Amino acid sequence: MVAGKNIFELKDFSFYYGDFLAVKSVNLGIEARKITAIIGPSGCGKSTLLRSLNRMNDLILTSRVEGEVLFHGVDIYRKDTDVIELRKRVGMVFQKPNPFPSSVYENVCYGPRIRGIKKKSQLDEIVENALVRADLWKEVKDKLHESGMSLSGGQMQRLCIARSLAQEPEVLLFDEPTSALDPISTANIENLLQELRKTITIVIVTHNMQQAARISDYTAFMYLGELIEFGETDTIFVNPYNKLTEEYITGRFG
Ligand SMILES: Nc1ncnc2c1ncn2[C@@H]1O[C@H](COP(=O)(O)OP(=O)(O)O)[C@@H](O)[C@H]1O
Ligand SMILES: [Mg+2]
Repeated sequence: MVAGKNIFELKDFSFYYGDFLAVKSVNLGIEARKITAIIGPSGCGKSTLLRSLNRMNDLILTSRVEGEVLFHGVDIYRKDTDVIELRKRVGMVFQKPNPFPSSVYENVCYGPRIRGIKKKSQLDEIVENALVRADLWKEVKDKLHESGMSLSGGQMQRLCIARSLAQEPEVLLFDEPTSALDPISTANIENLLQELRKTITIVIVTHNMQQAARISDYTAFMYLGELIEFGETDTIFVNPYNKLTEEYITGRFG
């Protein structure tokens, strides 16, 4: 991987919950405008690592980090980081679709409103753009003022993606975004991620190895808090270097 194309660089990054070391001295580069998948058995630290990229773990009071997470070359764990701004640039979509209990429209323009945009024509445009990019516009353009929670599971997840896109993020982090969805909704989201990759850097935690193989450019395999292997997805799945990786991807444990 060419240095410099990496939007994120983790350097000897460790994450502790109290005394428990959940992520162990990880070194990893994340290339811009690619999809990087993080795979590994339950509890191996995937979500912890993902949430470390926009300091979502800050809310856990006993947590502590060592090493660095460079975003455009600057450590996001520096004291002077504007965490609100960081989370705008590095958005997050969770496993369970979590729209706000308000209309489709209000869900999407929540962030822009907080940023101070008040003009209705401008908000309308932002909402439409975000919904188009999230491949949801056609389905909801006549129910913008209905509750976001009245949508189907797959639509709610795309609404959450639209809500993130309205913040114009550079990176979107996805934590098992399709594990609560049916196969058709899952395929829709996978297609959408392929499309979004043209403009946005994507990091996705997935339990589903076929999903990682289908959609990602790079794959990181974690085990017990360690990054065991990282590389091009084709290599990881066809010709892994590490025996543990091979055992995991061939389904011998998980
Ligand atoms: N808030 C927390 N407090 C203490 N331990 C936690 C917390 N969240 C996760 N852990 C522990 O950290 C380890 C990694 O968890 P996690 O990152 O959620 O793994 P994964 O996403 O791979 O399933 C697990 O052993 C888990 O029990
Ligand atoms: Mg997890």
